[in-house]
Amino acid sequence: MTKDIARCVAFLLFLSANLYAADKNTCIDCHSEMEKPYQVTAAEFAQNIHAQKGLTCTSCHGGDATSDTDAMSPRAGFRGHIDRKQVPELCGACHSDAAKMRQFNPSLRTDQLSQYRTSVHGKNLAKGDTHVAVCTDCHGIHDIRPASDPRSTVHPLNVANTCKRCHADADYMKAYKIPHDQFAGYTASVHYKALTDGGDLSAPTCTTCHGNHGAAPPGLATVENVCATCHVFQAQLFQSSPHESVFASMGSGGCITCHSNHHIKHPTDTMVGTTAAAVCTNCHAPGDAGLKIAQDISGKLSTLEAAINDSREILDRASHSGMEVSDAQLELVQASDALTKARVSVHSASSDVVAQNTSAGMKTASKTHQAGVDAMKAREYRRKGLAVSLLTILIAVGGLSMFIRNMERRSERG
Ligand code: HEC
Ligand code: HEC
Ligand code: HEC
Ligand code: HEC
Ligand code: HEC
Ligand code: HEC
Ligand code: HEC
Ligand code: HEC
Ligand code: HEC
Repeated sequence: MTKDIARCVAFLLFLSANLYAADKNTCIDCHSEMEKPYQVTAAEFAQNIHAQKGLTCTSCHGGDATSDTDAMSPRAGFRGHIDRKQVPELCGACHSDAAKMRQFNPSLRTDQLSQYRTSVHGKNLAKGDTHVAVCTDCHGIHDIRPASDPRSTVHPLNVANTCKRCHADADYMKAYKIPHDQFAGYTASVHYKALTDGGDLSAPTCTTCHGNHGAAPPGLATVENVCATCHVFQAQLFQSSPHESVFASMGSGGCITCHSNHHIKHPTDTMVGTTAAAVCTNCHAPGDAGLKIAQDISGKLSTLEAAINDSREILDRASHSGMEVSDAQLELVQASDALTKARVSVHSASSDVVAQNTSAGMKTASKTHQAGVDAMKAREYRRKGLAVSLLTILIAVGGLSMFIRNMERRSERG
């Protein structure tokens, strides 16, 4: 308790010192006039969240910002150059101190440093590899902004470009055994398209899957499990499939075996079946039980799709010729929903599970198709009826005009 109070008092002193220092800043006076990398301008620093919260140069660098002559003296606690290796500890000195951070923003996490240490970046840095990302590579140095600011380097729309600087640079990554195609693959994926074109901020970017700071997002043991956090139904079905255990023992994560990790494309029905385009033929040879089931599932999907198309075609025709088929058209949506569910249930790798959806869809599609056939019949019947009545009217009109002409002739003569 007394310790807490002491901490609190120390912190308030630290704060007021900083606030006082904010009035005069000799550091900026000199450093705004200097060349890079020594240049830090007042305008740049004003954008920094730390400056906005009343912190100043000395919060990180030490020294005395009120002195013109002694600003950078070790006596004033000036640290000098901050080595990359020291950066996480420097930032962590505040950001992992819950008591300190609570004074500013109680809702801000304070696990960045501890998470960072579990990541490949953090582990490699601890071994002396300074090529890996440290806090300032992702957040910037003197222009650090909250993640929610669209101009922040870690805003969801900017993250991929931040990682790209190293991970897409073949030269920079030369010394490592990992590929450097993650950015190229990701930016060609459905996820990137949904995030950028679709403006769907719930679609993943690099750090959604890899974690902001740790080796995987909090709560997940490994990055391979990350797909399941969003694609719940596919994951449940996959877990019940014969693949779950064998894929695990093959040493690769389940979903990415068929979908890849970065270049994830929009799947179509050709992905399942016995053709070269089907992912099933990557592993199953002709004659395998797996391939027979692949063929069966593929057949069920294409039969249902064809039935839905037939049904839609005849209903469209009926509707264009003025028949009332909106009930059937509405019902046909249920068959399309069943097809969507059937596609999801491909992840079970079971004909029976797929059949549960396709047979319900087939029933609806054949019912709506019948409604279309009936409507076209009714239209044909009406057309014939119309023709007969038109003819009758024509004859009647013809007869009538003849009758009138006769009457007129008679009256002329008489
Ligand atoms: C009178 C001008 C002046 C003032 C005031 C000043 N600096 Fe500097 N600073 C310099 C110059 C010049 C350098 C160039 C490197 C050198 O010669 O040490 C420098 C270098 C640095 C470096 C790099 C140190 C290194 O070892 O490479 C840092 C960090 C720095 N200053 C921060 C600060 C901070 C923080 C303050 C305020 C507390 C401050 N400076 C005040 C002129 C100044
Ligand atoms: C939030 C912490 C923080 C604050 C606040 C901060 N800096 Fe820095 N500064 C750093 C870090 C970390 C580096 C080293 C970055 C690197 O090289 O990766 C750095 C680098 C520098 C350098 C380059 C020195 C070199 O070694 O190359 C100068 C100069 C400097 N800072 C001056 C300032 C001035 C002037 C201010 C106030 C206007 C300021 N800094 C505020 C963290 C901070
Ligand atoms: C590999 C890139 C990367 C590194 C390295 C990194 N961060 Fe982050 N950081 C992020 C991303 C991405 C976010 C979250 C963006 C969001 O919320 O959408 C973030 C968020 C934050 C936040 C806001 C609160 C939170 O946790 O969401 C703080 C504070 C922070 N980082 C501090 C640090 C510190 C301190 C370090 C070094 C120990 C560090 N970061 C290292 C990428 C990084
Ligand atoms: C002297 C203490 C201190 C140091 C050192 C420090 N920070 Fe901060 N940082 C803060 C405070 C205080 C805030 C503001 C929190 C708030 O009010 O939201 C903050 C905010 C942030 C934010 C914005 C969080 C958000 O709202 O999304 C990021 C990112 C961040 N710091 C990163 C860093 C990085 C990177 C370093 C190291 C270069 C660093 N900080 C060093 C105290 C510090
Ligand atoms: C400053 C350069 C740099 C930046 C920026 C950077 N990284 Fe890295 N990253 C590296 C290096 C170097 C490695 C080490 C590779 C190794 O050891 O195999 C690495 C390793 C990784 C690994 C582990 C790869 C493995 O070995 O399995 C992942 C995942 C990763 N980075 C993701 C990211 C993400 C996501 C971002 C952006 C938020 C990012 N990195 C930003 C340099 C960087
Ligand atoms: C949809 C989730 C997801 C997204 C988005 C994502 N990754 Fe990955 N990433 C993975 C998975 C899963 C792995 C494979 C892990 C394994 O095989 O151990 C992986 C592997 C990696 C690796 C290790 C080397 C490799 O290629 O296998 C690096 C580095 C990496 N990703 C960086 C990135 C970067 C940078 C971005 C953004 C441009 C990104 N990732 C976007 C899920 C994702
Ligand atoms: C943060 C949530 C999230 C994570 C994590 C995630 N996805 Fe996605 N995924 C989405 C969103 C959002 C879309 C685009 C909307 C849609 O089509 O469902 C999408 C689309 C897809 C699509 C295309 C769907 C279609 O019909 O075109 C596939 C395939 C896919 N993701 C597979 C994966 C795999 C594999 C992983 C893991 C490596 C993964 N996703 C991780 C949210 C996520
Ligand atoms: C990465 C390799 C791989 C891919 C891709 C793959 N499978 Fe499999 N599958 C296996 C392995 C290994 C087994 C277990 C051994 C076996 O029964 O052949 C298996 C088992 C099966 C089984 C159970 C067979 C039985 O004997 O009961 C079915 C059904 C199946 N797969 C269907 C599919 C379908 C459908 C696809 C395409 C959507 C597919 N598989 C894609 C590797 C794969
Ligand atoms: C054995 C290969 C295989 C595995 C493993 C696999 N998928 Fe699929 N996935 C497919 C096929 C084939 C389709 C296309 C189905 C269609 O459109 O007919 C698909 C389609 C999808 C779609 C598009 C919507 C849908 O369901 O039709 C998403 C999203 C998806 N998969 C996510 C996942 C996730 C998440 C995992 C892991 C839990 C996963 N997949 C594992 C083969 C696989």
